[in-house]
Amino acid sequence: MKTIFSGIQPSGTLTLGNYLGAIQQFVQLQHDHDCYFCVVDEHAITVPQDRLELRKNIRSLAALYLASGIDPNKSTLFIQSEVPAHTQLGWMLQSISYMGELERMTQFKDKSEGKDAVSSALFTYPALMAADILLYNADIVPVGDDQKQHLELTRNVAQRFNNRFNDIFTIPEISIPKVGARIMSLQEPTKKMSKSDSNEKAFISMLDHPKKIEKKIKSAVTDSEGIVTFDKENKPGVSNLLTIYSSCTGETIEALEKKYAGKGYGDFKQDVANAVIQLLEPIQERYEALLQSPELDTILDQGAEKASRQANRMLAKAKKAMGLGRVRK
Ligand code: AQP
Repeated sequence: MKTIFSGIQPSGTLTLGNYLGAIQQFVQLQHDHDCYFCVVDEHAITVPQDRLELRKNIRSLAALYLASGIDPNKSTLFIQSEVPAHTQLGWMLQSISYMGELERMTQFKDKSEGKDAVSSALFTYPALMAADILLYNADIVPVGDDQKQHLELTRNVAQRFNNRFNDIFTIPEISIPKVGARIMSLQEPTKKMSKSDSNEKAFISMLDHPKKIEKKIKSAVTDSEGIVTFDKENKPGVSNLLTIYSSCTGETIEALEKKYAGKGYGDFKQDVANAVIQLLEPIQERYEALLQSPELDTILDQGAEKASRQANRMLAKAKKAMGLGRVRK
């Protein structure tokens, strides 16, 4: 049995990309492993958030984890800011992270580009992410493709800590799904689908009404060729829809190409929409029930308690290794 850690930011309602790239893997992994899944609200505040929206999104994300199949009897589900060890170790890891390596992070470059006021937390975010993972001695971190670079940094920082102070941290491996690791925007298919995209037509929210899902997929940008084939370079829009279809149904992309040979985009887009609706509708029903129930708070309280026990043990070891505070005899 391995230990798994992953987190999602409550920076908006989850997209189909978050589900296919991350949550779908989490649900599978929890059957055979010791899993920690986190609502990383302290990451969300690295860009401005409305406080009431943020609070709503935190609860909503926790309910979506559960509605998607995260089982609280198998996995530990908790909110990052309710386990203070994350920011404490995050600070310690900042002290051994270098400006140069943080400057290379493409997510920082993307999110800060063209902005006047960029928070210093957006820059040091990867050190907090490293702390999230290392506190649980995670062996595997299941994420979408966009997190590869942050994971590489986590591994480097962990190795640096182990070499410089004491060999206490497990060096985590990354796990990326074979299909669905990077779902693209429906309007700009060379760009990642993101929940904070200002163009609502660019993403499918996990809570979108079926009619809205259908409309968004039907207006997804494709090309004028009318041939359903996978070619990421020349046909990014169609390739993205094929990836979505395949990830939702489990049918291979080759099988789908055959199925739509000579058929044009009309039927294809309708079927992609149906596949997405079929996947999301039962999740949406469970979500509504969970959001109203007191069960959600009980699960999050228990999750925070269990996560804190593990996180505080590791934090104490890390502090001792670095020489912080006093050692009690
Ligand atoms: N488009 C995507 N395709 C596949 N996987 C994705 N993930 C995100 N977008 C896609 C994966 O979802 C997990 C949670 O991501 P996050 O919310 O912590 O941060 P993010 O990667 O920055 O996601 P967003 O939706 O783009 O959020 P915003 O808009 O707030 O920046 C991660 O495992 C991620 O790989």
